[in-house]
This record gives sequence, structure tokens and C-alpha cells, in this order.
Amino acid sequence: MQINSSVRDYSVRETEDLPSAVAGLVGNCRVFALVDGFFTGSEAFKSIDAGRCLFVEANEKAKSFERLGEVYGWLLENGFRRDCVLLVAGGGVLQDVGCFVASTLMRGVRWVFIPTTLLAQCDSCIGSKSSINFGRFKNQIGTFYPPDEIILSDSILLTLPTDEVRSGMGEVIKLHLIAGGDRWQWFEAQAAGRDPKDTPLREVVRSSLEIKKPFVEEDEFDRGKRNLLNYGHTFGHAYESLSDFAIPHGIAVSLGVLTATHLSFQKGWVGEAHYMDLQRLLRPFYEPFDKIVRNLSVDGIVDAMKLDKKASGGRLACILTRGPGAMEKVELESPNEARHLLGEFMNTLS
Ligand SMILES: NC(=O)c1ccc[n+]([C@@H]2O[C@H](COP(=O)([O-])OP(=O)(O)OC[C@H]3O[C@@H](n4cnc5c(N)ncnc54)[C@H](O)[C@@H]3O)[C@@H](O)[C@H]2O)c1
Repeated sequence: MQINSSVRDYSVRETEDLPSAVAGLVGNCRVFALVDGFFTGSEAFKSIDAGRCLFVEANEKAKSFERLGEVYGWLLENGFRRDCVLLVAGGGVLQDVGCFVASTLMRGVRWVFIPTTLLAQCDSCIGSKSSINFGRFKNQIGTFYPPDEIILSDSILLTLPTDEVRSGMGEVIKLHLIAGGDRWQWFEAQAAGRDPKDTPLREVVRSSLEIKKPFVEEDEFDRGKRNLLNYGHTFGHAYESLSDFAIPHGIAVSLGVLTATHLSFQKGWVGEAHYMDLQRLLRPFYEPFDKIVRNLSVDGIVDAMKLDKKASGGRLACILTRGPGAMEKVELESPNEARHLLGEFMNTLS
């Protein structure tokens, strides 16, 4: 699949044979690799010299400065130079770590990304940002630094646990709602009545990247239109951090999308039928994590929303909807308004 851009090349390369694609890269240049610990011993990365391959356990701690220091140290001690390539293979955690390191080491080095989760394949791999945690502040430090090449493999997704598939589907659903029209209708037809793990992943990945592409082309640095891709994220990030990351990122996004839709309903922007339809469609992708959200304190959610990057001057901001294809950034009048709207939403969770 070619996703081209006149501004920057957002193409992704699909491969049926990942081990050969990795071996080809290793044969061409000096490669150092950061690979998700899940793939320790995997055939796919066998061609990389053991001394130049660091397996990293994918969790939020990996996105701390302490752990980043270990990665810089390993690369420098083992002879990484400006003409080397950093190969990063994993989900969003490895992407955040790898992208941040690639963008800062020696003021920026070449990097290649092999996304191994649905979430990273369908959404975060193009227009890559890095997001690093600082204490309790999640994703508050980072850079924009897209990879030089992205290699997609279907087969790498086969080992994903069901919750990780459901998590990726959260971003897929968000993107198709943002697109609206035929895209949303197509997605509804794919998802309705199907077990989430039976969704045709190759097709949803392609469609999602096609939706995302114009947003990152037009607004690479997330100062305008790209903000809309944060639909569901103000609430999702709050749920994720308040649950101490027990809720996977994309599942928190599904619940955040549901929240934003209910707030839009309360403001009279969408009908109740749209909210109910969406809740029916989303339920298989988020249950039973809604129980965790139902038990969170509304005050805690509002406090967490204050840390969102869209909040400014003490005002809480989020993306609401007037229906599929019609998202808008809004500022809530006050924390009290947010508390009231969220309280009403919580009552709808079973
Ligand atoms: N940089 C960005 O633009 C961006 C965008 C969205 C989310 N994120 C971040 O990404 C993180 C979530 O990423 P994620 O959902 O992709 O997952 P992840 O990187 O957190 O990985 C989830 C789990 O899946 C395992 N795993 C990865 N690939 C696998 C495979 N093919 N088979 C079996 N197990 C596999 C990992 O080892 C881990 O246990 C969060 O930290 C979030 O903040 C970053």
C-alpha cells in the first residue's frame, strides 16, 4: 500500500515475509534494534546480531526517563553512530521509546518502525509522535519524528491477545467515526454482530491509515485539524491513568468516545438514538472495563482532565460530536459543568 504525501513521505511497506524484510535491512546498513520483549527468541528478528538487539518489556515504566537513560547508555556503549539505523519493533510503548530516542540521540538519527500491535499499525505508526511519561504526568514530554520507513506485517498480529485486538479497535472506531459517511457505514457493517477478534484486520488497518493520512499531512505538528484525532482521548487518558493502566489504551479510548458522545447528547448535538446505537456497537470492544470506569470518582476524572494537553488557562477542553464525520473541539464552561455531564454519563453504564 502506498500512502504518499507531497510534504513528507507517509508510505508504509507491507510484507508477507517479515524475517526477510528484517534481514534485508540488516544487510544494508548497521542496524541496532529495540524490540518488544514479547519477541525474545522470535524468528522474525534472528538476523540481528545479538549484541545489537535490546529486548524491552513493554509497559508504562519503559516510557520513563530512568529507562530511557538505560537505552541511550546501551546504544552509546555498543557503538551506535550517526550512520546507523535504529530499528524499533513493538506496539505504542516501543514506538514512544524508539521515536523519542531516535529524535534526540545525536540530534536525530534514522529509524525504521515495525508496528506489532493493531493499535500501532492502524493509527500511531504514521505521523509518529513520541510521548514520554514524567512521574504521574502521562505522555507530557515528546517530539514529532516520523520513521524513515514503516514495515507492516499481518502475520505479526496473529499472536496478539484478544484485549490488545479490542484495544486497537478503539482507535479504528474513533478514526471511522471521525471520517463519517461511507467509511463509518463500511466499518459498522464489518463490526456489527461480529466477535472483535474476527474483524478483518488487514482491511481495517488500510482504511484507518487512509483516514488518518490527510490529518497528519495538513497538520503534522497537531496545532489544528489533527486535534480532532484526539476524539475520546481526554476522557480515555483520564480513565487509563486513574485505573493505573489496568485499562488498555485503546479500550480507554472506546470508553472515552462513548463519554464524548453522551456529553454531545446532553448538549443536544446528537440524538439519544445515536448514543444508544454506538453503545451497542462499542460494548463488545470495552466490556468489562466499563465497570472500572463506573467506580471512578467524577472529581478524580475532572482533575485528570486538567492535565490534558488541550486544557489551557484553567479551561477544560475536549472533542465532542455532532454525528459521524462532524467532530468539534470545545471548551467546557467550568469544572462544575464537567462534573455534572460526567455524572449523567456514569449513570448510563450498566
Ligand atoms: N506514539 C504515539 O503516537 C502513540 C499513539 C497511541 C498510543 N501510544 C501509546 O502506546 C501505548 C499502548 O500501545 P499498544 O496498545 O500498541 O500496546 P503496547 O505497546 O502497550 O503493548 C501491549 C502488550 O502487547 C504485547 N505485544 C506487542 N505486540 C505483540 C504481538 N504481536 N503479539 C503478542 N503480544 C504483543 C506487548 O509486549 C505488551 O505486553 C500507550 O503507552 C500509549 O500511550 C502512543
